[in-house]
Amino acid sequence: MTEAILLVGGKGTRLRPLTVHTPKPMVPAAGVPFLAHQLARASAAGVDHVVLATSYLADVFEPYFGDGAALGLHIEYVTEHEPLGTGGAIRNAASLLRSAPGDPVLVFNGDILTGLDIRAFVAAHTASGADVSLHLTRVADPRAYGLVPTDADGRVTAFLEKPTAPEEIVTDQINAGAYVFRRSLVDAIPGGRPVSVEREVFPGLLAAGAHLQGMVDATYWLDLGTPQAFVRGSADLVLGRAPSPAVPGRCGDRLVLPTAEVAPGAKLTGGTVIGERALIGEGARLTGSTVLSGAVVEPGAVVTDSLIGAHARVGARTVISGAVVGDRASVGADNELRAGIRIWCDAALPPGAVRFSSDA
Ligand code: GDD
Ligand code: MG
Repeated sequence: MTEAILLVGGKGTRLRPLTVHTPKPMVPAAGVPFLAHQLARASAAGVDHVVLATSYLADVFEPYFGDGAALGLHIEYVTEHEPLGTGGAIRNAASLLRSAPGDPVLVFNGDILTGLDIRAFVAAHTASGADVSLHLTRVADPRAYGLVPTDADGRVTAFLEKPTAPEEIVTDQINAGAYVFRRSLVDAIPGGRPVSVEREVFPGLLAAGAHLQGMVDATYWLDLGTPQAFVRGSADLVLGRAPSPAVPGRCGDRLVLPTAEVAPGAKLTGGTVIGERALIGEGARLTGSTVLSGAVVEPGAVVTDSLIGAHARVGARTVISGAVVGDRASVGADNELRAGIRIWCDAALPPGAVRFSSDA
């Protein structure tokens, strides 16, 4: 039996304006709630018991995933009254674990899309005899992550969460958000108060001489914590770059969900996803974008690397690139929206109201 704790709570609400009634893990990526990809990958790797550790709106997960049988899993839910931090959430889940004190327990951050070979990760953990193993990946700019330098044998020498001082930027290896804990170390996390696994547990274990082992690889890896990353991840799932058994349908340039209507002259490329009951007008061109359910993209609109919220409307000939249009928002015809702009849920932009390029 292999058990996993999936962390899906906390204050990570950066997508909240887009999804007022739905927490981030339930926003569809490649047509299904993002969490379904992580659960399906865990199941495919032999995990059979998952504890979902949540701290907000927990009641949206259970109606969708239930007892997990459809995914070949047994899923249980544990809700914190106040967010307990990553370490507190892991500790809070411990009462539902069935593993013996020496057994390996997987822990996953709930916002990561990765091709990690979960079986190999657990096997490497067991072979090394480590107390905790950490999946590590290399990124160009490590500052927004936990930095994890290792020695020649892959043993972790320090854990520096989101360092600010330049002298602390000692490696491009970061915590990729998947761990294997020896069960007894989960039980040893202090209970009943907020604990950060990154700022308290890992540095504390290292100071006490525990064996933390890093496993670096170059497989697909993305933290979906921003809307832009979310759109990228969704497209990569559709394109097959990010492997997931939960993608509904074959991987390819596009994914059009049943009940969506796409005009014959519309062009969908780069892993674009069209959600249920969405309407895509004649001559519209969409690349690397996610259109959620019930949204309307009018004729001639050009949408690139953007997220169009549920029941939102994009007017005719409007050009949208690297943008987020909130649920039910309406962008009138002939607008031009670019990099990083977020149109709030329910907002309405009149026709021809915004442009970036010159009038010439
Ligand atoms: N249940 C529960 N309770 N879950 C929590 C809590 C909490 O209080 N706080 C955070 N989480 C969950 C989040 O939902 C997310 O799935 C995961 O723990 C990590 O939290 P984030 O808020 O997304 O952290 P981060 O992205 O800034 O940093 C973390 O991930 C990086 C990799 O993406 C850290 O683990 C870094 O060290 C790591 O590099
Ligand atoms: Mg994150």
